Amino acid sequence: MEKKKILLAVSGGIAAYKAAPVASKLYQSGYDVKVILTESAQKFITPLTFQTLTRQAVYTDTFEEKEPAVVSHIDIADWADLVLIAPATANVIGKLANGIADDMLSTTLLATKADVLIAPAMNVNMFNHPAVKKNMQTLAGFGWRFIEPNEGLLACGWIGKGRLAEPEELINAVHMYFKENREGQSLPLKGKNVMVTAGPTREELDPVRYFTNHSSGKMGYAIASAAKKLGADVTLVTGPTSLEVPSGVQVERVISAKEMFDKAISLYGEQDIVIKCAAVADYTPVTVHSNKFKKKNDTWTIELKKTDDILKELGERKEHQILVGFAAETENLEDYAKDKLVRKNLDMVVGNDVSKEGSGFGSDTNEIVMIKKDGSIRPLPILSKEQAANEILEEVMELMKR
Ligand code: PMT
Repeated sequence: MEKKKILLAVSGGIAAYKAAPVASKLYQSGYDVKVILTESAQKFITPLTFQTLTRQAVYTDTFEEKEPAVVSHIDIADWADLVLIAPATANVIGKLANGIADDMLSTTLLATKADVLIAPAMNVNMFNHPAVKKNMQTLAGFGWRFIEPNEGLLACGWIGKGRLAEPEELINAVHMYFKENREGQSLPLKGKNVMVTAGPTREELDPVRYFTNHSSGKMGYAIASAAKKLGADVTLVTGPTSLEVPSGVQVERVISAKEMFDKAISLYGEQDIVIKCAAVADYTPVTVHSNKFKKKNDTWTIELKKTDDILKELGERKEHQILVGFAAETENLEDYAKDKLVRKNLDMVVGNDVSKEGSGFGSDTNEIVMIKKDGSIRPLPILSKEQAANEILEEVMELMKR
């Protein structure tokens, strides 16, 4: 089997010394390993250590071009099957979360399309600082997976969470990553870009009130997760939900129908498949009050205007994409769903009767009917949203064969 290529990026904390056994064990396990050391990392450990352990030249400087034929930070960014950042300092986490590219590690990470495992290590108070937490959330939103630090006595003398995971844990995480992705080549959606929209939107009325709906996001998140497991590059455009973003899925958070419209349209061109599961507000207040609207009269009449129909717009702009919409209905499910299929120029519509128990909003299950543009209709029994998501993607893959 072809050797898997690991790029080990080491930043400057005392835990940098633990990266040496990681490089060594990965090399001995049969991986091809290349190493980047930041300038600070070199204060703790030398390039020669890693060069000797991996039998490869070590990268330390963006401008030190080892081979004239290539630009090294782009070359190794493209070379890697997986990047492991260990240890990741607060500084490196901050830079990467904010797109700063001022050294070999950060330029390479900005350029790579490989998946990233990141193992933070720092003082417990730094680890718990809101700025670091926010930056880690941003990186998780890129689909990067964290290898949590351990708790214990830290090099600085504090006791708490911040110790770099042990070399065995880091190596295990790499093995697990490749085990999960072993099917590699046979993953049916590998190389495909999939955009899923999920959750509700919120339409603001004043600083304390908004209109929304009952969507929890469960159905859309299940589709995003299933598409990722099938090998796709998944972007989840989500309204406000309390759900955890599935591992490896890139997230774009929006609030209002207008924000979802703008985000979905801007990402549309690069997508192969779009599944619009979000429950988008059909109407939004004409007037948004800048201050809290004070209680005065017995009644309050609010004027609403139609929002732009995102799915219809995507249907009109459709080029190569497979476009799937949902229809949430409480009556005449098939008729209304078929009408949406035609009117919005969809390849498939997924109808669900949201008045049925165990179907639609908030539940862990859904009862769906899939209607394709060739007229075929496939009703399904009540299924978990994960199962329903897999069935939807099966039909999408059928559509791609045509
Ligand atoms: O999130 P859960 O709690 O798991 O619930 C799942 C669900 C019920 C939200 C989901 O299964 C579902 O039915 N999603 C679509 C909800 C909806 O808005 O349906 P609709 O029939 O009103 O809209 C039809 C389609 O047009 C949908 O694909 C919708 O995303 C899209 N639309 C609607 C309005 C608008 N302004 N822009 C749109 O793109």
